[in-house]
This record gives sequence, C-alpha cells and structure tokens, in this order.
Amino acid sequence: MFFSITVDAAVVQRWESVRKLAEEAVKAVPGVQSAMVALTAERRPGAAASPAQAPSAPAAAHGHRQGQGPVGVPGVTSIIAVASGKGGVGKSTTAVNLALGLRDLGMKVGILDADIYGPSLPKLLAIREKPQTIGGTRLKPIERFGLTVMSIGFLIEEETPMIWRGPMVMSALTQMLREVEWGTLDVMVVDMPPGTGDAQLTMAQQVPLKGAVIVSTPQDLALIDARRGIAMFKRVNVPVLGIVENMSMFICPKCGTRSDIFGHGGARHEAQRMGVPFLGEVPLEMSIREASDAGLPIVATQPDSPHAAAYRAIAANVRDQLGPGGPSKAAPRIVIES
Ligand SMILES: Nc1ncnc2c1ncn2[C@@H]1O[C@H](COP(=O)(O)OP(=O)(O)O)[C@@H](O)[C@H]1O
Ligand SMILES: [Mg+2]
Repeated sequence: MFFSITVDAAVVQRWESVRKLAEEAVKAVPGVQSAMVALTAERRPGAAASPAQAPSAPAAAHGHRQGQGPVGVPGVTSIIAVASGKGGVGKSTTAVNLALGLRDLGMKVGILDADIYGPSLPKLLAIREKPQTIGGTRLKPIERFGLTVMSIGFLIEEETPMIWRGPMVMSALTQMLREVEWGTLDVMVVDMPPGTGDAQLTMAQQVPLKGAVIVSTPQDLALIDARRGIAMFKRVNVPVLGIVENMSMFICPKCGTRSDIFGHGGARHEAQRMGVPFLGEVPLEMSIREASDAGLPIVATQPDSPHAAAYRAIAANVRDQLGPGGPSKAAPRIVIES
C-alpha cells in the first residue's frame, strides 16, 4: 500500500516521525502486506523556502547522517545521474536508451526514475503494474527489457498536483534507493528532475553518484541551463561524465535533407569550453519519439537502427568515463562512428 501525507513544507521534518508511525500502523493492519508512506507538500505561491531546503542545510534531510557523505546502495556498483538544466530536452528518453545501451555492453542495469515533476518511466517502458512487495517490507522492482526499473511514478499518481520539495523528495528517494530490492547491478541510471534548484542539488548530494550525464539540445538557451547543471554537480564534487547533444539535427524523412532545427554542435562546443567529455549526439527523429511514446524504446525494439547505434556509442563512452574501476572491464568494446 502506498499513500502520502500532505503537510506544510516549512515544518516537514517534524512530520517524519508521524510518517514512520503511520507506516508502522498501516503495516499492522491485518491483510496489509506492506506500506510505504511519503510526505508531500503543496507549493504555496511566494512561500519562503524552509531552511531544510537550502543547499547549506541538506544534512537535515531524511536518510542522511550528519557529517557523512551519501551511503551507497548495497549490490550496486555505480550510480549515475542523467540530468538536464531544463525539461523537455529528452532527458528521460536518453536515460532509458542509455540504460539499454549499457545493457547491450553486457552490464546488469537498473533505472530509477527520480523525476518528481514528471515521472516518465511508466510511460516510456509501458509499465502499468504496481511493484510487488517482498517479505512485507521491501519492494520488488519491475523488470522490463532486461532493466530493473523503479519509478517515483509507482509511488504517486502522475496527475497529483503537488510539488515535492526538499526533504519530502528525500524521503521518497531514500525509500526508492534503500527499500527496493535492486539486487546486484553494475550500473543504476537515475533519471533526475530537470533544473538546478535546491531539490536537485539536495538530491545530487544525497545519492551516492559516480558521475552525471548532462543532456542538452544544441541551442544557446538550453546550453546555458546545461552549464548550470555542470556547475551544480561540480559544486557537490560529482564528476561530470559528459554531455549528450539531443535533437542534434533533423533529417527530413521525405526528402532526406538535413536541417539543424536547434543548430548543431552547440553541446560539443560547450563541452570543449567547459573541459568535460562530449559523449555523442542523437538526431531529432520521428521514430525515436514514436517508439518512446509507445513504451518501446528504440535501442530495445529497433536495435539495428542508426539511432540505436548512436545510443550504444554514447553508452560505450559513459562506460569508458566510469574508468577502469568502473563496472565492466570484461565487456566487449564497441566503437561506432556517429
Ligand atoms: N531525439 C529525439 N527525437 C525525437 N523526439 C525526441 C527525441 N528525444 C526526445 N524526444 C521526445 O521529446 C519529448 C520529451 O522527451 P523526454 O525524454 O520526455 O524529455 P525530458 O525528460 O527532458 O522532459 C518526448 O515526447 C520524446 O519522445
Ligand atoms: Mg523526463
């Protein structure tokens, strides 16, 4: 059973004990196999940020022990974030296809949808069932296309008009990291919420990240946001594994003419400027959108397409960036010209 308690964002920490008690109480009801309770808050226009949300005081968030860095997830070798300065640039699409690309390199891969504003894995992977429980206390993630999947969308309805903030985000995130039976994973790909606000910063600090992949479209406006994203991860000492340029170019399906709708090469240039790796580019392509929206990610369902190859090349670069201590020394190296 999942439910949320809506509280005033300013006093959320006082509710943590209530959240725990509610969870225990519901678990004790005969017939209930397991219970997960999350704290949520509605954003009041103009409401001041609570101190707990300020980047200077993230240690107060649930699941974090004062004075220590984030704790790893047992069995999971590397956790990487896929992030973007703003929404709609193709972050989730990239996260899913990157995860599948890593799978194709021989790794055991999980994907965690932490996008509190718009969880999209239920749709991108056509997952309608709710996760089962194990032993009444832990959640069993969903398996799809060889990926182990958990989404904040499983815990809260997509239409819920709530903005999750600071510590509330942490309570849900901590549950998804620690109360889910992830098993043994080489890589866990985390689809982060877009933007570089306090919630994102706190999250980047709380999840034990090996590195971050920044997704951007090529135009200046998106790149300014990407720059902020890179700065955010640098600030919390998370290595930036590199930038992916999405919607890099458009090839007209009718006449074959190439148009650079958002420009082209902007992200590559920006990566050079900022001294971070450029991981590859993905064209703006109708079949990518259609496959995504149908819950049939292109790397899984059209593996021979050039777009799947582009994602696999990006995955190989990510794997290389994770370094020799990284997840899969034994996996074959695939080099694909983009
Ligand atoms: N390379 C691409 N070509 C065509 N459509 C794309 C591409 N990447 C993403 N999209 C589409 O753009 C929309 C937004 O992508 P999504 O991955 O949900 O972005 P975000 O997670 O950044 O908000 C979706 O409809 C998706 O199918
Ligand atoms: Mg998304």
